[in-house]
This record gives sequence, structure tokens and C-alpha cells, in this order.
Amino acid sequence: MCRELKKYYGLYRNINVDNCCNVVGMNTETNSQTMTLSPLCERDSQSRSCGGVSLSQPLDPIAAVTAPDPYPFYAALVAERPLYFDDRLGMWVASGAEVIENILNCRAFRVRPLNEAVPKPLLGTRAGDIFGQLVRMRDGASQAALKQAVCSAFAPVDTKALVRRSDAWMQHLLQAHPPADRRVGSGGTPPDIACALPVYAVGSLLGTPSDLLPSSVFWMEDFVRAIAPGSTPEQIARGSAAAENLVAVFQGLLQQAQFPDRRNPRGMPVNLGLLSSFARSACRHAGHEEVTIIANAIGFLSQSYEATAGLIGNTLIALQKRPELRRKLEDEPAMLGSVIREVARHDSPVQNTRRFLAEDKTLAGQDMRAGDAVLLVLAAANRDPAANPEPEHFDPGRFSPARPNPSLFTFSAGAHLCPGAKMALALAQGGVQHVLASEIDLERLVAGFGYRASQNGRIPVLRWETTRS
Ligand code: HEM
Repeated sequence: MCRELKKYYGLYRNINVDNCCNVVGMNTETNSQTMTLSPLCERDSQSRSCGGVSLSQPLDPIAAVTAPDPYPFYAALVAERPLYFDDRLGMWVASGAEVIENILNCRAFRVRPLNEAVPKPLLGTRAGDIFGQLVRMRDGASQAALKQAVCSAFAPVDTKALVRRSDAWMQHLLQAHPPADRRVGSGGTPPDIACALPVYAVGSLLGTPSDLLPSSVFWMEDFVRAIAPGSTPEQIARGSAAAENLVAVFQGLLQQAQFPDRRNPRGMPVNLGLLSSFARSACRHAGHEEVTIIANAIGFLSQSYEATAGLIGNTLIALQKRPELRRKLEDEPAMLGSVIREVARHDSPVQNTRRFLAEDKTLAGQDMRAGDAVLLVLAAANRDPAANPEPEHFDPGRFSPARPNPSLFTFSAGAHLCPGAKMALALAQGGVQHVLASEIDLERLVAGFGYRASQNGRIPVLRWETTRS
């Protein structure tokens, strides 16, 4: 437990941080162009030629996540192989909107590999304990009951108020996040202002005291690195220490919220923020225990963290590239909500997710086997012309109420549809609107940006420090 927690709970433990940099895909402006893939690679017969694309293009859909412009590659996948087995990755890759929609709505496709509820390297660790409790990582009845509790707790959140809060947090962070004091997370990348914003906003909604918010950002950075695929033992150790700190924060909050009320013989918490409303609905819907409630509160932060930062960053990049849109927004600030939705479609912060097949299945003419893994390229499906006409065209007007709803895969679909989508859009809107209203020079902010190393998140690292003189 950290120094701040000592103050809070009267306990003490040190946290180590290291110092290295891990930013990939430094941006070089590229233009979208059509491209063609080489002939389909046959399962079990060849591997290295599977990508069949020039070296300047991503070799596979995981490398594409942080590539400067993955969209011609995705367009070729959608057109030529909406579902194929990628020998290089050892898994199926789905990119067509229809295929992805089918998979997301089919119970045979699970969020975890069969017999591996928790990734092996995380077993027996604090980070693994949290992972195993997350609604995001469960399937079937236990997921459905917990999901209902999450949705009931999120439903009353006032998104207009959240836009205002997020705007205020952005203002606070721009003033109070001095670069000299920037610690480095276990991914080697300092959690920047766009990453800090969702932790501050969702953390404070959950009831986290404001003096614990700065540390919560670092704990979250360490936690998400630990549970990401391919994490090192050191990252897992740091993520576990971070998880312990976050558990202590939420345990403390739940204890504060307990009250011996005769009308409530189970002593359930009341009205102390989103955490206590989630605790109440979790108990009502499924009799969940404190350990599940706390793990999922940490999950709300981890689900928000990089994805919302990516939405904020990708919106600022989209606006930097389009001065005419910025001018239009000055006249019509209410348009910002549609701009952010279109960024979510056009340049999604979450590019892919995964599923694991529980039984043999034939889909889109392909025979798939129980145990097979599938990478669902949500960002490619967003640009499938069968789902959204003129998909390459950046058009916030798609989201006007007068037009039919566009297809948006960024927040997934089916049983695991993101329950925080409205909150995420509100957080991004508040953050971006504050940046636009401030003196910040967008050109300097995005100059030479790169992306955080990630297998699924397209999260730009912007130069917030250059915005301060
Ligand atoms: C731009 C920001 C965000 C994006 C792009 C995003 C995207 C997603 C996606 C794609 C999933 C489902 C993954 C899958 O089906 O495999 C998901 C699940 C989830 N998200 Fe979000 N999310 C965002 C922000 C948030 C926020 C702000 C919260 C909460 C405060 C949140 C809470 C959750 C939870 C709890 C789940 C698990 C739901 C389940 O498995 O049933 N997300 N999100």
C-alpha cells in the first residue's frame, strides 16, 4: 500500500517504478490507398507469406493496431478474406461486419480459452485474482447476472454532468500534471493526461478521494500492463502490487459506506457514489460478494483507461488534420458529440478483441474447431462498406438523428457490449471540448506522435508537455 494510502488507512508500503520508453509506430502521415492481399494462405501449409503485403504495410492485424495507417490493409481483408486462418498468428481473423456480428452474438464463442479462465502467467497472483472476477472475462449465466448489475448501476449516471466533470478534470490535469513529476509505468510509457482523465473521472464517480487519484493513475497503468497478453513477470508483480492498492482503496470505501440500518439487515452500502450503487445492484441481482464487487470496480477503471485515452487522442488528431471541421465546431459546438462518435468508427481506439470457440462450427463457409481462437478486427468491420456506405469518408453527419444508425463495432455487441459506451463518449467530449477551448496548439500537441505498444489499443501518445510554456 502506498504513502497516500498510509495517510488514508494508516498503513504503509513502497511502490517501485522503473524508467524506460516503449512507444511504437511513430506517425508518418500516410494516405489511405487501396491494396490487394496475396492469395489466401492455406491452413497448415504455409505461414510467412500469409500477409503477402509490402513491408510498409502491416504484416498482420496485430501489427496493424499501431501502424501509421492500417486501413488499406483492413479494407483488403474485408473485401478478400472476411474470415480466414492466419498461420502467422495461429488464429482465425474476422474482419467482415456480418461475420463479426455473428460471432459476437453466438454463445459458442467465449471470451476466454476453454479451461483457462485466467491466463496461466497470472495464476496465483493478485492481478490474476482480479482478472478472474471480471464481468468482461466471464461467460454464461454468471456473466449475465453480473452484467445486469453493472448496467443497473451505470444507467442513472448523468452523461451531461459527466461531460462537465470531464471538462473540469481536463482543466485540472493540464494545470496540475507537471511533466517533471511524471513517473513511468511498467509499460515504460508515462501515463499521460489523456490516460489520467478517465481514471480521475471514473475514480471520483466511484468515490475515490481526490488525494488518491494521482496514484490511482499509476496503479492503473501497472495493472493494465500486467493483464495485457505477453506481460513479463516483473510487470505482473508490479500489477499485483497495484491491484492490492486499488483493492485497499475500494475496501475502505465500502467499509465507509456500510451502515447498521435496521431497514437493511444485510448492511449493504448506500449512496456513496457509483461503487455503492454497483454494490447494491450486485447484491440484488446475484448476491455477489465483496471480492467480485471490488474486482469489477477496478475493472471499470481498467476498461476506461486506455480506450478512453485513445478516443480523446484520436479525436484530437482527427481535428488537427481537419482545420475546416475545427472552424465548423466553433460555430456549432454541439456537433462535437457526433465528431467523437465518427472518430470512434473511423479510427477506433479498440481495434480488435478475441473469442474462443467452445464447439466445432462452420461459419462463412469455413470449418472451425472447438478450441480455435478468433481475432475480431472491430476497426475493420466499422469500415466494411456493407455496414457503412463510403466507409473511408470521415462524416460526423452519419450520427445525426435524421439518418439511419451507422454500424459501430468499437464498443462490441452481444453479451459483452460495452456498458460504459455513453460514459466513454461523455468523458471524451468533456476532455476534448476543454482542449479546444484552451490555448493549446493542436499542431504542437500531435507533432510526431506515436502509439503506445499494444495488441489491441490504438492509443496515441501526444506531447502534452509541449502545451505548457
Ligand atoms: C472509448 C472508450 C471505450 C471503448 C472503446 C470500450 C470498448 C469496449 C469493448 C470493445 C468491450 C467488449 C469487448 C469484447 O466484447 O470482447 C467493452 C467491455 C466493457 N467495457 Fe468498455 N469501452 C470504453 C470505455 C468504457 C468505460 C468508460 C467503462 C466504464 C466506466 C467501460 C466498461 C466496460 C465493461 C465493464 C466491459 C465488460 C462488459 C462485458 O464483458 O459484459 N468501458 N468495452
